[in-house]
Amino acid sequence: TVNDKKEVRVWIDGCYDMVHFGHANALRQAKALGDKLIVGIHNDAEITKHKGPPVFTQEERYKMVKGIKWVDEVVEDAPYVTTLETLDEYQCDYCVHGDDITTTVDGYDTYHLVKTAKRYREIQRTQGVSTTDLVGRMLLMTRNHFQQGESEYSVGKDDNWLDNKSAMPFGAIQAKPSKLGQDHAARSPWTGCSQFLPTTQKINQFSNGKPAEPGDKIVYVAGAFDLFHIGHLDFLEKAKEQGDFLIVGLHTDHVVNQYKGGNYPIMNLHERVLSVLACKYVNEVVIGAPYEVTKDLIEHFSVDVVCHGRTIISEQHGDPYEIPKKMGLFKIIDSGNDMTTEKIVQRIIINRLDF
Ligand code: CTP
Ligand code: C5P
Repeated sequence: TVNDKKEVRVWIDGCYDMVHFGHANALRQAKALGDKLIVGIHNDAEITKHKGPPVFTQEERYKMVKGIKWVDEVVEDAPYVTTLETLDEYQCDYCVHGDDITTTVDGYDTYHLVKTAKRYREIQRTQGVSTTDLVGRMLLMTRNHFQQGESEYSVGKDDNWLDNKSAMPFGAIQAKPSKLGQDHAARSPWTGCSQFLPTTQKINQFSNGKPAEPGDKIVYVAGAFDLFHIGHLDFLEKAKEQGDFLIVGLHTDHVVNQYKGGNYPIMNLHERVLSVLACKYVNEVVIGAPYEVTKDLIEHFSVDVVCHGRTIISEQHGDPYEIPKKMGLFKIIDSGNDMTTEKIVQRIIINRLDF
């Protein structure tokens, strides 16, 4: 009978450094292969041994993955080579991984044991996003190395730059045809590097599809949410505690560039939508929210409270919260976390200098 049917527990493991929507999409697909999703995450020492130091600490990486809505359990200090003992210890039926080969420092397929035991399933890797690609975008933006329309640039090979032991010194970006380069044909000068092809199907797969219930207290927040990080996660957790249904407004690339300058945002609007939708505290996303929180928007979504974190609000273009403040709906909340997108870019540069 249906009741006797055993719950299928799916194991997936990895580094989950600089968690992006490619990771989230892997977790989504893995969850769909069973009932419960258990994610094993390697500690810093294990990653350093096999591919070089991660950008984010293990505590940060564990927390980010716990914030993704398809994840049921996180197992810390998971071994780099997935063993049958590990699957058994957590009562997992099989292990899932993307359709790319990962190897140990000695060149072994990290999944050879589970493959031999036929306890392995494969999912499709998300094209157009990877830690390598994001690092490439950041290095491009910090080096001002764009030569649009001439050659394109890449950092190392197609693999993760962290495992490229013969890494070039910082800034020595190779000129070669690459998927990291600035696409001179792209419309947006800021996020033209993105090679990800957003579709309505992907948005559909990531969204909850559940509208607010009558009587729900609606919370609205807005921002860039570029390179979705633990500061954002902590902020959204606190924002969600202010009510029952959390709506996140994402500013367009153009608006973000106007107040952040440089080559921000690093992730384009479509990519930011997916990262935010993957977060377990988020119920709905406004794709291209106005910079100013308008009366129309507040009424349209029946917003009860508008929140912002403790980061500085640039008033260069006027106070975006003037209306909710006047309506008595505005609240500053403390995420207790001082991570910013800019700090991540700094970490990448420092890490890069380590080689
Ligand atoms: N993954 C994916 N699509 C991507 C990136 C990663 O499906 N664009 C999957 C991997 O195949 C793996 C899981 O996410 O099953 C965790 O991967 P992890 O060990 O963290 O990552 P990498 O493959 O090294 O990812 P990246 O190249 O982004 O560092
Ligand atoms: O900077 P960005 O627009 O991405 O921030 C989105 C929201 O997250 C803002 O309300 C900001 O104050 C908040 N935040 C936070 N703590 C951080 C980073 C961002 O509360 N460390």
